[in-house]
Amino acid sequence: MAEPDDIYEKVMELAKRRGFVWPSGEIYGGVAGFIDYGPLGAQMKRRIEDAWRSFYVIREGCYEIECPTVGIEPIYVASGHVKGFSDKMCQCPHCEEYLRADHVAAAHGVPNPAAMTGDALAGALKSLPCTACGEELGEVKVFDFNLMFTTWIGPGSQRKGYLRPETAQGIFTDFPRLLRFYRDKLPFGTVQVGKSYRNEISPRQGMIRLREFTQAEAEIFVHPEEKKHPRFARYRDYAVPLLGCDEQCRNGEPVSMTMGDAVAKGLVANEYVAYYIALTHDILVSVGVDPGRVRFRQHLTTERAHYAADCWDAEVLSKRFGWVELVGIADRTDYDLKAHSCVSGSALTAYLPLDTPRMEKRRRIVPDMKALGPKFRGKAKEVADALVKADPGPDGAVVDVGGERVSIPASLYQVREEEVEVRGEEVMPHVIEPSYGIDRICYAVLEHSYGEDMVEGEVRRVLHLPARVAPVQAGVFPLVSRDGLDRVAMEIAAGLTAAGIFTEFDESGAIGRRYRRQDEIGTPYAITVDYQTLEDGTVTIRERDGMKQARVKKDTLPAMVRDLITGSIAFSALGP
Ligand code: GAP
Repeated sequence: MAEPDDIYEKVMELAKRRGFVWPSGEIYGGVAGFIDYGPLGAQMKRRIEDAWRSFYVIREGCYEIECPTVGIEPIYVASGHVKGFSDKMCQCPHCEEYLRADHVAAAHGVPNPAAMTGDALAGALKSLPCTACGEELGEVKVFDFNLMFTTWIGPGSQRKGYLRPETAQGIFTDFPRLLRFYRDKLPFGTVQVGKSYRNEISPRQGMIRLREFTQAEAEIFVHPEEKKHPRFARYRDYAVPLLGCDEQCRNGEPVSMTMGDAVAKGLVANEYVAYYIALTHDILVSVGVDPGRVRFRQHLTTERAHYAADCWDAEVLSKRFGWVELVGIADRTDYDLKAHSCVSGSALTAYLPLDTPRMEKRRRIVPDMKALGPKFRGKAKEVADALVKADPGPDGAVVDVGGERVSIPASLYQVREEEVEVRGEEVMPHVIEPSYGIDRICYAVLEHSYGEDMVEGEVRRVLHLPARVAPVQAGVFPLVSRDGLDRVAMEIAAGLTAAGIFTEFDESGAIGRRYRRQDEIGTPYAITVDYQTLEDGTVTIRERDGMKQARVKKDTLPAMVRDLITGSIAFSALGP
């Protein structure tokens, strides 16, 4: 049961009442795992995505692409999602509720259940109560449940498809075109922001675990042997709290460390991973995550994917949910490109010219077509093509032709040692992937920015949102709706709107009430037009957090509010 002062309840109550987040399909009873962003929520979410873009697209130069949310089956066979993208599930024999087995175990303090096999989990669950009905689970079966939503493409169910479980695969499958777009050079990065779908088992954590959610993912393609980031200097001295594997095993606390030290000490695998850890910290704090409630936790070897060279999660502390992963940052090596190359047959490599060409001894296989022709007849050309790529032993070569293994005696080809000039090399890039969950970031920002204080004997609810993500950026109020104050206030609102500042004009109720309404939705600045405005053309501008006020010329407002929002000037600089 929620505590009466449970911040989650307060945040969600505010979010529903003021139009940030609503249950989806509510008039039909809704369904877990889907949410609607209301007018203010959609605006805030878009601003968070745009803040993310200002880092990745504008500053880092990673172009954004947009791929379909439906993908054909081979994509997800190659990526491993068809075979292995599943969670362990069980069904309560009493209430018949489907439960995520590792979550039930974790709720009862079983250590590291995510790394347990199905049988081990079933054993651990036996004596535990069902999290839905409280009855002992007993002899439950634990089985794998694939999280992908399946669909059919076109009429007649000819072609199976999946709703994408992550945005990343579109970037991997576009790799050859992206490489050409980036003029065949490494490193380069590409990003995608969009919906992903996972048919989560019993999601009960509001915006944290959804069946349809927004990801913002970056795939940075780098030379496999060059993991020094070209702009590492930007974050060399940037410190973030790091909770490494060893520290976790000792039940220790995160250690604040600069990225330069983290790489030098071998705690973070390379400069790329460290760069994106710092960049992630920079983004999260700039959109309103409390820096005192963020840490970066390294994946334990038991939870890390076998192919990953290193993996860190950006986690934030939530009063209701504990430490929650918002972002995963991984060095995925060449796993994805190799897998897609294998299934698609496309060579997903980059040809990189060498600075200085070098001479190299090479072995060349020269098929003897006069001998291969009579022996293999119609297949002779295919056999010869396979042979030139083969690695023959002393007794001959074995090649694959149309799925058939064919043995070729050494007498049917020559092996020539040749010295060739090498002008470049084919490399399969490694991928560094920072992957952000936008909905989780939205929730963390709402929870961390929620505050209450007492003003004039009443509780004031405030969202202390950074101005860049606040849905409404300025409120404009006439002190009274007569004597021309309302007309001047409307003109001011129009001027702010024309400058691209999202403004609400509000003339109803006492001025204190109007301030409270804007404070509650995080509006950073409120402008009031009073009788003095008619005399000297000045207005009061009030900032949300400290409720300080300054008297400024109304004509300067559009540029001034713009500068306040971007942080180019501080409110204190406006004077009294
Ligand atoms: N391409 C890598 C990838 O998708 P992930 O850790 O599965 O990695 C990345 O997902 C981020 O997406 C997570 O850190 C989380 O913020 C978000 N995410 C994952 N599943 C989610 C869900 N069911 N609901 C909301 N956000 C989710």
